[in-house]
Amino acid sequence: MTKSSENTNTAVAQDPNEAPAGIPVLSLENVAYAYTKGGKKIFHDLTYRFESGKVYAITGPSGAGKTTLLSLLSGLANPTEGQVLKGGADLAKLDRYRFRSHDIGVIFQSFNLLPSLTVAENIILSIDASGKKFDEPKAEIARRMLERVRLRPEYANERILHLSGGEQQRVAIARALSYEPSIILADEPTGNLDLSTQDDIMDIFKSLAHDENKCVILVTHSPEVASQSDVVFQLAALRRRRPAQQGGQQ
Ligand SMILES: Nc1ncnc2c1ncn2[C@@H]1O[C@H](COP(=O)(O)OP(=O)(O)O)[C@@H](O)[C@H]1O
Ligand SMILES: [Mg+2]
Repeated sequence: MTKSSENTNTAVAQDPNEAPAGIPVLSLENVAYAYTKGGKKIFHDLTYRFESGKVYAITGPSGAGKTTLLSLLSGLANPTEGQVLKGGADLAKLDRYRFRSHDIGVIFQSFNLLPSLTVAENIILSIDASGKKFDEPKAEIARRMLERVRLRPEYANERILHLSGGEQQRVAIARALSYEPSIILADEPTGNLDLSTQDDIMDIFKSLAHDENKCVILVTHSPEVASQSDVVFQLAALRRRRPAQQGGQQ
């Protein structure tokens, strides 16, 4: 059966003066997906709610459909059956380009930065691509983003090629944050990093959820990353569920 567990060691502290955490920002309603028409379903009857203010870890072995699920959550693909809802509205019927460029920030294991550009240029490109308008100069936004991912301001003019893996992942997070999305999706974001760098990166994700009320959804193979998340969502077992056990769960 699908297992979804709340880790008690990372409970979110509630400040009554802040916007309440726990508002569902993305939900899956009886979602099924197959890559080809009539082909084998990667998963089916998947129902789940992702809330603001929490870090979610989607786990499961290779081939379980984790990356496929992220592409449905990010609006890159539409479910074969069921719906992905953004704040209650069917994502398939919304302007998905706007959703992708405004509401979500996506981070990849391989960083996907432009290697010959500087750190600041990578961040500014992403601000430009979003089409969002900000009063603040873009270079200043880039500087603030670096501060958020705990990189010194001098990094702004460094070329990506000159950075370590952990530093590149921080820049990739800074880039994803540059247009202030409310949802962060990351596919194996710590997969190429050593354990202590992995912890540093997890601290950033936890702070984004717990201090800034973002919804952070991570795909991970790492038990350490899962144990540091608020909710663990094990995808693999879904494919083996018996019909009697199907239905919504959380
Ligand atoms: N573009 C594609 N076309 C057809 N099948 C695919 C495609 N991408 C992934 N798959 C298949 O879908 C299943 C889930 O893949 P994926 O979502 O990448 O799993 P995970 O990220 O958990 O390793 C696998 O069996 C994979 O071979
Ligand atoms: Mg994958």
